Amino acid sequence: MSDEAKRSAAEAAVKLVQDGMSIGIGTGSTAEHFIRLLGARVADGLSVSGVPTSDRSAELCNQLGITLTNLDDTPVLDMAVDGADEFDGALNLIKGGGGALLREKIVAGAAKRFVVIADASKQVDVLGRFPLPLEIISMARQPLSRRLTDMGADVTLRLAADGAPFRTDENHWILDCAFGPTIAKPAELSQTLSSWPGVVEHGLFCAMTERVLLGSNDGVRTITL
Ligand code: 5RP
Repeated sequence: MSDEAKRSAAEAAVKLVQDGMSIGIGTGSTAEHFIRLLGARVADGLSVSGVPTSDRSAELCNQLGITLTNLDDTPVLDMAVDGADEFDGALNLIKGGGGALLREKIVAGAAKRFVVIADASKQVDVLGRFPLPLEIISMARQPLSRRLTDMGADVTLRLAADGAPFRTDENHWILDCAFGPTIAKPAELSQTLSSWPGVVEHGLFCAMTERVLLGSNDGVRTITL
């Protein structure tokens, strides 16, 4: 999918930003377009404050002069904008391909509106083609892997480039769980996974998304429920 499609979606999201807003700022290549476009508007005089969902998004915001805040000082955000790895017809998401799902979910949950920016490659009928990321406490790796395998998932510990376990910004591990395109009841799976000891967070975002801005080379389509 072309980078242009991601950029179009990000452009549509930046148009939703108004002066004085507090914005949750996502992570990933689509969110990076959003950050760069937001930075351009800030350079033109827009006044916003952002809560970033990862250290790398925070770094980019700092480079671009976007004022950052946090959820202690700004517990309710006007809007959060982020990418997704998959979304279905009910606007349930899989997120966490970039490893930022925990902060992403906290920030999206703190926002009055959660806007997803995506290209058509992310749109699916049934979630699960993309392996579902689970952020876990390292001690729980084997018990959780067994439970997940029993549910039919193919489980892989995410590794960093040096071959060591990938560590999230909150210093946890990630299990990537390939269910196949078979997560027919995401809300149920979400509740089950959240109840397991050792799961810090999982990448299913159910009933959180207000709209998806779906970018293509021909423009942007807004998908709402
Ligand atoms: C990071 C995420 C990203 O939003 C997701 O991986 C999509 O990334 P991209 O915009 O690069 O396709 O959830 O944790």
